[in-house]
Amino acid sequence: MRPKVFVTRKLPAPALERLGQVCDYEIGTEHGPLNRDSLIAGVRETDGLVCLLTDRVDREVITAAERLRVIANVAVGYNNIDVSAAQQRGIFVTNTPDVLTDATADLTWALILSLTRRVIEADAFVRAGKFTIWDLDLFLGTGLSGKVLGVIGYGRIGRAVARRASGFGMQVLYCGRDEIAFRDDPPRPTGLLSRRPSEAVTMPLNASARQDGLTAKRAGFQELLAQADIITLHVPLAAATRHLIDQAALAKMKPTAYLINTARGEVVNEAALIAALHAGQLAGAGLDVYEHEPQVSPALMTMNNAVLLPHIGSATRETRTAMALLAVENTIDVLSGRTPRNAV
Ligand code: DGY
Repeated sequence: MRPKVFVTRKLPAPALERLGQVCDYEIGTEHGPLNRDSLIAGVRETDGLVCLLTDRVDREVITAAERLRVIANVAVGYNNIDVSAAQQRGIFVTNTPDVLTDATADLTWALILSLTRRVIEADAFVRAGKFTIWDLDLFLGTGLSGKVLGVIGYGRIGRAVARRASGFGMQVLYCGRDEIAFRDDPPRPTGLLSRRPSEAVTMPLNASARQDGLTAKRAGFQELLAQADIITLHVPLAAATRHLIDQAALAKMKPTAYLINTARGEVVNEAALIAALHAGQLAGAGLDVYEHEPQVSPALMTMNNAVLLPHIGSATRETRTAMALLAVENTIDVLSGRTPRNAV
């Protein structure tokens, strides 16, 4: 008998075709998030679940799914799934790393550039018919060359963002898991930033980034907050990272600094961010994700120094198709008796 898979929302055609080669499947909804009752009903008699980050797959859902063997998230982040509840039942949870790294890093840079060069404001100005005369100080922005990019979270996406900094002549500071875990420690003495590879403390960047003269230097969390001109977040959402950027962290940032978040909204205390933007404690914010997504604080919507996107970090045709295909391959792996390629 062919295994049965419940797919919460319609996926790109190549992914459904591939799934149909091995499994029978049912789709929960063509558009928009699936409601909770339909999710619970959908998983009841199924061997595999392919879900999206908008589906909350908690203990109640997992308990209802008596036959379930795999939960394949079409996302690299999996904070929407109760992984320990799944593991207690011996259910594999999988995600979609790697295939979305470049798309998300590109969008991070789109936010950095839109914000620092005021692209959205300037576009609105032209469309409003206000471009009647050129002037020397029309939409003055902030240059990137020689500035410091602070990357918080130095996994695949954080590194891809750092690699792109060489093209803009920026120096890179980064914090990994340890610096985030010990973030309240006083900053360690570090000396000057260097653009000479030999002086880098650690630099897990690729050869072409090195040839471009980029060094990425590991820094303490407090040090990074204080020194970076652009701070970009690339941590998963977990207990240790919820509200990582809070009032105290924002107060450490330069008033000329910009904050970029393409990770998860709850990593930033949004009320504290709004207060800091109002108080001029930082220069601006570029957000792809929100604390109460898909709700966006009305206060943010009124701010010219905030660029707001609807969680589109991985939203290229190629990437979304690759993500869906990878989730399907993970599902097929488990339902064919193999260990899935991307078990979390
Ligand atoms: C992810 O994969 O976690 C992104 O947020 C959506 O692509």
